[in-house]
Amino acid sequence: MANCLTPYAVGMELGFDAKVVVITGAGGGLGREHALEFAKRGARVVVNDLGGSVDGSGGSQTAAEGVVAEIEALGGEAIANGDSVATEAGGKAIIAAAVEAFGQVDVVVNNAGILRDKTFHKMDDSLLTPVIDVHLKGAFYVTQPAWVLFREQGYGRVVNTSSNSGLAGNFGQANYGAAKMGLVGFTRVLANEGAKYNIRANAIAPIARTRMTEDLLGPLADNLSPELVTPLVVWLAHESCDSNGNVYSAAGGTIARYFIGLTTGTHRGNEITAESVRDDWEQINDTEGYTIPSSPADEFAKLMGQWQS
Ligand SMILES: NC(=O)c1ccc[n+]([C@@H]2O[C@H](COP(=O)([O-])OP(=O)(O)OC[C@H]3O[C@@H](n4cnc5c(N)ncnc54)[C@H](O)[C@@H]3O)[C@@H](O)[C@H]2O)c1
Repeated sequence: MANCLTPYAVGMELGFDAKVVVITGAGGGLGREHALEFAKRGARVVVNDLGGSVDGSGGSQTAAEGVVAEIEALGGEAIANGDSVATEAGGKAIIAAAVEAFGQVDVVVNNAGILRDKTFHKMDDSLLTPVIDVHLKGAFYVTQPAWVLFREQGYGRVVNTSSNSGLAGNFGQANYGAAKMGLVGFTRVLANEGAKYNIRANAIAPIARTRMTEDLLGPLADNLSPELVTPLVVWLAHESCDSNGNVYSAAGGTIARYFIGLTTGTHRGNEITAESVRDDWEQINDTEGYTIPSSPADEFAKLMGQWQS
């Protein structure tokens, strides 16, 4: 069903008319910005949010309903959903709500997140499990039922929300960093499996001023409005974007690519010893001539080349 924002959307190059976009954790922060922008571009939006505090405690559907009201005030179409991403049942319920309301799903933006920071030696399971459940297992649980639909319809877009906490490593976030880096592996496997079904999966590593970061960014906060992250998400979610399996940083209007590179390294074959590894250490770590494998096959190809030469 077309909505009142259609004329605006039609005039935009990157429109989402007839598309259904599910955004988790969209009751505030980055997710809210994404939801508003997708709606402005003609998408029908599922605004999911458990509505808890930054550490994941509590819950209320009010935040999601507020964003739906904002979208409707703009003439857009959206529904609120208060299921938790952190359980298999919750993930299925979110996608079922989308199908019930709009008949299809085209895009999943896995954005829901919590923080439970503590230095590693003090971290216990009450800080580890909920963080893994929301970020990593949550993305899995929400994406999987959508994935079944994506394969059937031969189309889908997944945008996962990673973080430089995992990509670069941040003090006090062993739980969160592991979950966020896990999402990179998740993204890359989805990219691999979805390629032939016209499904694309990418990840973002945002930096933005939200309730999650308000005490952390200091004077930089003024430059880091959350809406400056959303254009990257919109592009990655668009049908004309062919990027697959990649990770992009978005902060204050700067977009850049993170990647995992493999150095040329050294080859000693059967002669390798711990001492030869020590002696080769500088060359092993030399980034000159690195490659970026897009699959294990790429690494095998590199190895074959080195073994033959
Ligand atoms: N703000 C940043 O600088 C930054 C940096 C790196 C990554 N991120 C990631 O971006 C995403 C959005 O964070 P934000 O900064 O907008 O913070 P935020 O706290 O405003 O947004 C997170 C939202 O997720 C919701 N949520 C939490 N648990 C949920 C669950 N089980 N089910 C459904 N919803 C749930 C929360 O209610 C909240 O509205 C998170 O994944 C976060 O880790 C943010």
